[in-house]
Amino acid sequence: MTRPMRIAVTGAAGQIGYSLLFRIASGEMLGPDQPVIIQGLELPVAMNALEGVAMELTDSAFPLLHGVEVADDPKIAFKGADIVLLVGSRPRSAGMERADLIRVNGPIFTGQGQAIDTVAAEDAKVLVVGNPCNTNCLIAAAQARRVPRANFTAMTRLDHNRAVGQLALRAQATPAQVKNVIIWGNHSSTMVPDTDRATIDGRSVPDLLDSAWLEGPFDETVRERGKAIIQARGKSSAASAANAAIDHIHDWFLGTGDQEWTSMAVPSQGQYGVPEGLIFSFPCRITGPWQYEIVEGLELSASVKSKMQATIDELASERETVKDLL
Ligand code: NAD
Ligand code: LMR
Repeated sequence: MTRPMRIAVTGAAGQIGYSLLFRIASGEMLGPDQPVIIQGLELPVAMNALEGVAMELTDSAFPLLHGVEVADDPKIAFKGADIVLLVGSRPRSAGMERADLIRVNGPIFTGQGQAIDTVAAEDAKVLVVGNPCNTNCLIAAAQARRVPRANFTAMTRLDHNRAVGQLALRAQATPAQVKNVIIWGNHSSTMVPDTDRATIDGRSVPDLLDSAWLEGPFDETVRERGKAIIQARGKSSAASAANAAIDHIHDWFLGTGDQEWTSMAVPSQGQYGVPEGLIFSFPCRITGPWQYEIVEGLELSASVKSKMQATIDELASERETVKDLL
């Protein structure tokens, strides 16, 4: 029998956690042949709620679910974890930017980064969802002595999926027909959605859709979608965020199918002029299970180039703000 993978999830009783855990347990994240053990972490105050979620997981009788463990200590919750999903942290409310959370949420990721380094599997794969996710990932990765730095990633897949959704709507196509979108940079309003190489049903997006829409409403909708959802729901996105986390890990493990690449925020090694070490969203090609490489050598349009610097500068300034945590 295939060894069950241990999946640690923080903030497991929160909004995203409530959607995410059931989809991990059903096999949507790692495929229908991979058993899982879920290891949920919560704050002590939310442990009762987490016990309730654990009961519901058991009551779902998922064939692939080989165990549910809960804890309020990361050194217990992360023990032996093959995958660590760092979700638990405060969401922003209306009127805030994600970066406003940096001093509230940042310190969570030092302790959790240390716990990963101490007790998780030595090749653990990490996805940071809690905002501001790129810089929180930088904080967690800074604690990594044993787990490879490249295994620390942050989530821009929701932005990628939002771009796909908008393109499909506009072209009256299905999301599966949309390929090779890119999100560059920070999971913030400075992100750069890039459709220069995207296709819909094999046709080039810049040929198919008018540039005024792509540069205007499309670009703004993707960059500001998180805010629009908070305005509409009174709470930040949850099911779509959980879905994006499932997609991120699924593709990292199992590949992107007929897509050439996906968008993942990963440690820069200087590609495209992005300072080394920043956690930056790049087009990433999956070359094997848990193997990604940043797609290099793409010629950037003048418009994309002109926007890249703002997102680089923002991430560099976030790094400066948390330098005591690195
Ligand atoms: P939520 O408030 O519903 O749940 C967060 C949970 O985390 C709570 O149950 C809380 O008790 C727990 N928590 C807080 N600190 C913790 C800690 N130190 N250890 C363990 N658990 C802790 O929030 P949510 O809607 O689930 O969102 C969680 C985070 O994800 C927020 O920061 C939000 O902004 C972010 N988010 C990111 C994306 C993205 O695309 N990257 C998308 C949506 C939400
Ligand atoms: C999102 O993009 O929906 C999340 O990052 C939540 C937020 O604060 O916008």
